[in-house]
Amino acid sequence: MFITFAVVFINTSKMEIVRTVSNIKELCAQARNEGKTVGLVPTMGALHAGHISLIDRARKENDIVVVSVFVNPTQFNNPEDLRTYPRTEEADCEKLQAAGVDFAFIPTVEEIYPEEDTRVFDLGQVAEVMEGAMRPGHFNGVAQIVSRLFAMTNPTRAYFGEKDFQQIAVIRRMAQLEGFNDLDIVACPIKREPDGLALSSRNVRLTAHQREVAPAIHATLASSVNDAASMTVAQVTQSVIDKINAYEEMEVEYYQIVNPITMQPIAEWSEAPDGIAVGCITVYLGDVRLIDNIKYNLK
Ligand code: PAF
Repeated sequence: MFITFAVVFINTSKMEIVRTVSNIKELCAQARNEGKTVGLVPTMGALHAGHISLIDRARKENDIVVVSVFVNPTQFNNPEDLRTYPRTEEADCEKLQAAGVDFAFIPTVEEIYPEEDTRVFDLGQVAEVMEGAMRPGHFNGVAQIVSRLFAMTNPTRAYFGEKDFQQIAVIRRMAQLEGFNDLDIVACPIKREPDGLALSSRNVRLTAHQREVAPAIHATLASSVNDAASMTVAQVTQSVIDKINAYEEMEVEYYQIVNPITMQPIAEWSEAPDGIAVGCITVYLGDVRLIDNIKYNLK
């Protein structure tokens, strides 16, 4: 008689929840002193499979994984957006524990900013367009919090999702300005729902009907890739805007096809470095603001 044993992997190592800056500094410094690598995944919580994919990557590539969960007030230029940002600490901690995180860093606003952060970063042209133009102060706030997290945790690698494509360029610029030269900033691919909608903490705020139409954003972007062979940059841009605005529920805030290094809009496909351009979009569904992007490979 044969008995079959099912082997189920259960993560049994205990995650530590860290609330203070001094504690996270100490734990990370100790790990680095022991010769361990530290992977940092900065988040604002309301964790979904997109965040978990960053954590999985950090888990594979580092000895210690730190995830910060902090809704950073300095990057919200709209108080209502800050107020309504989903906060789900208990569920987040369960997900972090299951994902094998070592330290969940969950500080209060007072812990991170005992005094107002008045630093203004010279983020240059990567921060001037798109999100930078639409959300004044947003990227400076991102630079403030991420520079603090880098200084506290001294990570070997830090992981960011490509849904916020421009944010990664801004963080690279901040890291260069602040001298975080040994730190590897790892850009990870966008995670999508089966119907194509990019995973976002904001998706939970969509009504059932908005959720039904939202996949048209990615579908439109994906089909525009085929148009690049026969249409100009301006024509593709306009066609994406028109197709999405044709849905009564959606309104495009901007769609720009940019150089993926400088973030500057290109006028001709030939301006795309190594034949790669990226189309970045922001769409309002009611008061929910969703962002997404697509790569045009012109080679
Ligand atoms: O992308 C985000 O969730 C935030 O901008 C970040 C990088 C965690 C900084 O608050």
